[in-house]
Amino acid sequence: MKKFALLTHSIKHTLSPGMWEAAFKSLNLPYTYEALDIQPSKFESIKYGYDGFGVGVPFKEDIISFLDELTPEAKEIGAVNTILKEGNILKGDNTDWIGVTKALENIPDISSKKVLVYGAGGAAKAAIYALNRLSMLPFVTNRTVSKLKELEGKFKIQKVEIQDLPQVDILINGTSIGIDKTEIFPLTDEYLSKVSWIFDMVYGDTNLKVRGEKLGCKIIDGREMLIYQGAKQFELFTGLEAPLEAMRKAIYLG
Ligand code: ATR
Repeated sequence: MKKFALLTHSIKHTLSPGMWEAAFKSLNLPYTYEALDIQPSKFESIKYGYDGFGVGVPFKEDIISFLDELTPEAKEIGAVNTILKEGNILKGDNTDWIGVTKALENIPDISSKKVLVYGAGGAAKAAIYALNRLSMLPFVTNRTVSKLKELEGKFKIQKVEIQDLPQVDILINGTSIGIDKTEIFPLTDEYLSKVSWIFDMVYGDTNLKVRGEKLGCKIIDGREMLIYQGAKQFELFTGLEAPLEAMRKAIYLG
């Protein structure tokens, strides 16, 4: 018997527990995965009660100060979505960038494309890291402009201001806008209509995806990233190959 948990503030929104239950069930593993809405500061009291953790929005950066070690990838990205337990050592890892890379495989000849990443939090950083590993130099914008300076020191990016965005082939939403389905994505239809691909890291019918689809953009749903970051996490937690089809079925068909 093993117990895993996801630390997130968007418990109602997350599809992770269903995906994990399906994965464990398909391999007959007597394991559990529950979502916990718990602030990083309260993590201390539960950290030894589980065999591993996933970390969701908005804790991916704040959780770092509560961990003992980071993998090189988590350190470079500056965000953690996976916590592994090695004895009493808690090690932060990042599999989001793998999820992003796999999700972007849907786009042909990606390295010739211009990309804009919207956001500067943990999810956006994983996307930027993935793009840099593909030798791409993304444009990056964020509501809080000061955060772009930090990114510039860490990654290869071109920072741009929201009122002065370049035309791009691919738009990646790395913000949490859209988790609340009533939120309007702050880019105009005129801008979106010139974008070929939208990869929204938020899953489901967000305002960005619904508008983008109407305007003729090709859409990549955050669920693609969810599957592949989860698959890598599954391998790290269990040492087994992830049952991708069971996971995919659980998150698309419920
Ligand atoms: P995580 O680390 O889990 O990705 P986060 O650190 O809270 O979560 O980052 C959230 C991102 O969404 C940030 O880029 C944030 O912009 P700010 O840096 O300006 O806060 C962005 N974001 C969230 N709500 C937003 C909104 N309503 N409009 C624009 N950007 C928003």
